Amino acid sequence: MRHPLACRHWRVLLSGRTRRELGDNHPLSLNSSDGVITYSRGERSNRDTADQLRLLIASVTDYAILTLDVRGHIASWNLGAERIKGYRASEILGQHFSRFYPPEDVAWGKPDWELESAIRLGRFEDEGWRLRKDGTRFWANVVITALFDESGELRGFGKVTRDFTQRKHAEETRELERLREALHARDEFLSVASHELKTPLTPLQLKLSSLRRAAEKNPESLLADGKLSRELAAASGQVRKLADLIDDLLDVSRINVGRLPLQPERMDLAALLRDVALRYGPQAASLGCHLDVSASHAIEGTWDRRRMEQAVTNLLTNAIKYGAGKPIHLSVKVSETLAVLTVRDEGIGIAPVHQHRIFERFVRAVSDPHYGGMGLGLFITHQIVEAHHGTITVESELGKGSVFTLRIPREGLVATCGPTAVPRV
Ligand SMILES: Nc1ncnc2c1ncn2[C@@H]1O[C@H](COP(=O)(O)OP(=O)(O)O)[C@@H](O)[C@H]1O
Ligand SMILES: [Mg+2]
Repeated sequence: MRHPLACRHWRVLLSGRTRRELGDNHPLSLNSSDGVITYSRGERSNRDTADQLRLLIASVTDYAILTLDVRGHIASWNLGAERIKGYRASEILGQHFSRFYPPEDVAWGKPDWELESAIRLGRFEDEGWRLRKDGTRFWANVVITALFDESGELRGFGKVTRDFTQRKHAEETRELERLREALHARDEFLSVASHELKTPLTPLQLKLSSLRRAAEKNPESLLADGKLSRELAAASGQVRKLADLIDDLLDVSRINVGRLPLQPERMDLAALLRDVALRYGPQAASLGCHLDVSASHAIEGTWDRRRMEQAVTNLLTNAIKYGAGKPIHLSVKVSETLAVLTVRDEGIGIAPVHQHRIFERFVRAVSDPHYGGMGLGLFITHQIVEAHHGTITVESELGKGSVFTLRIPREGLVATCGPTAVPRV
């Protein structure tokens, strides 16, 4: 049996975009090239179908659907328009649609500009404040479509408005929540950072005061047994710690503004790992960590030496801090085009819930004040590794230890930017 809506023709103007969405072969879009849609239908008359459409538009309440004449005067008005904007049809038909716009938008000619844009582009979409009849504002999503007839003459505009006020309020609430969290994180960070900066500063201050007192009272005592040079070496150690903390903070602000320049050069990663291990050997030993280094063969690649050193140092100092009293295993080897560097400790480990977050800035997985730190080392290391087109992963078990693995292309910087380029993080 034939469907009652099959066969006869009924024509509706559709925008180019709707035609594109339906596709030329869609059964509703029999004649799409001239901007006209032809419906197939059955015994029902053209007027029946037009009536259905009219009833549909009239009864939709979620959308204000209206038409404007070519000058922007309201020509038709549906139930949705009444519900959203508060005017009855009899009050608003024939009025200019600019009355829905706040005075500041009318002052700069926004309503006319929107109509001009719709003529130029076929369709214009906007989100912004609009006015209801009672003067209150609502956040509107507005689509204006220019209606051209088959000869290309402008016949008016179709305007569909949705009330997104609730959605806007929900977004604002979420945004406020995000801001509140960011402020809280900033305050927390400021307190951690001040504590960390103060930690080396306090002993430094004490040391300098005691040296000054000794210098004033009994200068010779300072020279006995190399005391002065010992004290000065300790003071320089504290100054270095402060400088490292400040460098980390500077790196984070560079990363924030997308500026952590790399200076790639040919280098041997195995030699770098041995150097770092040698430099931190005494500190590790003083905390009971034996450093077991497996990096005898040269591993050549193109990397930024200073940044790679910083990444390895961050991993090693973490291993010493969180794995005190146990051996630490460092290794680097080649796997196809990658250098694979691991730092393994047998320390406190990291709970699974924290493992994916520790590479974010300011995130720390320990609350024990005994472990100082700003939660920046792994964040910076991750950024450095990514800038070299590599990856960093962690495997860890609480109480058993952690393994951090860097996989870094040996010539990743050459392939993408050339050896002398300065890629940005
Ligand atoms: N080797 C490790 N063993 C256990 N936990 C670690 C280790 N390395 C990092 N972590 C955890 O990851 C967190 C982030 O590390 P990091 O960014 O270096 O910050 P920081 O060392 O300043 O706390 C640390 O606070 C710690 O909880
Ligand atoms: Mg650290």
